Amino acid sequence: MKNFVQSDLLQSLPKQFFASLVEKVGRVIAQGHDVINLGQGNPDQPTPGHIVEALQKAAANPRYHKYSPFRGYHFLKEAVAAFYEREYNVKLDPEKEVAILFGGKAGLVEIPQCLVNPGDVVLVPDPGYPDYWSGIALARAKMEMMPLRAENGFLPDYKELPLNVAENAKLMFLNYPNNPTGAIATKEFFAETVSFAAKNDICVVHDFAYGAIGFDGQKPLSFLQTDGAKEVGIEIYTFSKTYNMAGWRVGFAVGNENVIEALNLLQDHLYVSIFGAIQEAAAHALLAPQDCVNELVELYESRRNVFIRALKDIGWDVTAPAGSFFAWLPVPKGFTSETFADLLLEKAHVVVAPGIGFGEYGEGYVRAGLLTSQERLEEAAERIAKLNLFHDKV
Ligand SMILES: Cc1ncc(COP(=O)(O)O)c(C=O)c1O
Repeated sequence: MKNFVQSDLLQSLPKQFFASLVEKVGRVIAQGHDVINLGQGNPDQPTPGHIVEALQKAAANPRYHKYSPFRGYHFLKEAVAAFYEREYNVKLDPEKEVAILFGGKAGLVEIPQCLVNPGDVVLVPDPGYPDYWSGIALARAKMEMMPLRAENGFLPDYKELPLNVAENAKLMFLNYPNNPTGAIATKEFFAETVSFAAKNDICVVHDFAYGAIGFDGQKPLSFLQTDGAKEVGIEIYTFSKTYNMAGWRVGFAVGNENVIEALNLLQDHLYVSIFGAIQEAAAHALLAPQDCVNELVELYESRRNVFIRALKDIGWDVTAPAGSFFAWLPVPKGFTSETFADLLLEKAHVVVAPGIGFGEYGEGYVRAGLLTSQERLEEAAERIAKLNLFHDKV
């Protein structure tokens, strides 16, 4: 067989750090161990029944067996606009300010292709979700990291960025509630973001994947609730987390009209839009009563409470996340995030994601997902307790 060599572009893509973790976990499972996997971000609950039923019904409609309109059905864009108005009091023009996406990831990877040229600077949170890096690499752009530090509530400090970096940047990714730190953004921070972006001509892409998941009665803010936000950016929303629809691959971008047009234009060349029945069920998810979302947030909150309590009880000095379904846990002295994650896997058969996989500033932490039952989360804490790592502190 002839060995076709991958293009320079493909070879320049960032290596998948977590692939080696998946391999290590597979090895431990193959040895017959009962592994508690808190390493991934895959929601464990099913899609609510009324949304599945909407899909089942719509799938039988011959209207949807044809190609969908290139830029998606108007009814879904209308539903998105109604959802933003109801949830955030943000008004959107459904045709000009909404783009339908094959999941949030697609939009995040597409956006650098839409707005930057080779060599342009893109600001990225560190630690941050690795898919931002992929789109930037595909666009042959240059990443500049914005450190997220615990003492700043895991919000970037724009004053810390060198002047030439701020001036040269064309695009910026933000993500609150944050993966991996669980932090949520403040109104003041978003206001500061709008003025920083306006001053430096930067397009802000706020990844609102965990928008529905805020704890202790806090509803996470949409970036578009900030005055002037539509002037400088967009927000990317997904059905994956809010409605447990990760496998359905549907999301949307909202905000700045020019950026939405750029996304739609790129997508005109890449795809025909999502299966119409999925679009109908997605519109139904947005417009139906939101009890399923409230119940899901309650579930994650009680898991968070149980897990954080259990970890504190074993002497681990951890902070409860304010949102998302991740806990960001400091690594005990003497370990790196990778050696600590390896230890938990080998000795406790508990999987966590090493912070270094999310960037340099992720070092010193591991990420645990709240995506299993309270019993399993408690058991994970019990298994970790047996390693006697935190005995000095109890
Ligand atoms: C921060 C963040 N953004 C975006 C996504 C992408 O979600 P999807 O492509 O399923 O919409 C995820 C999924 O894990 C995520 O954690």
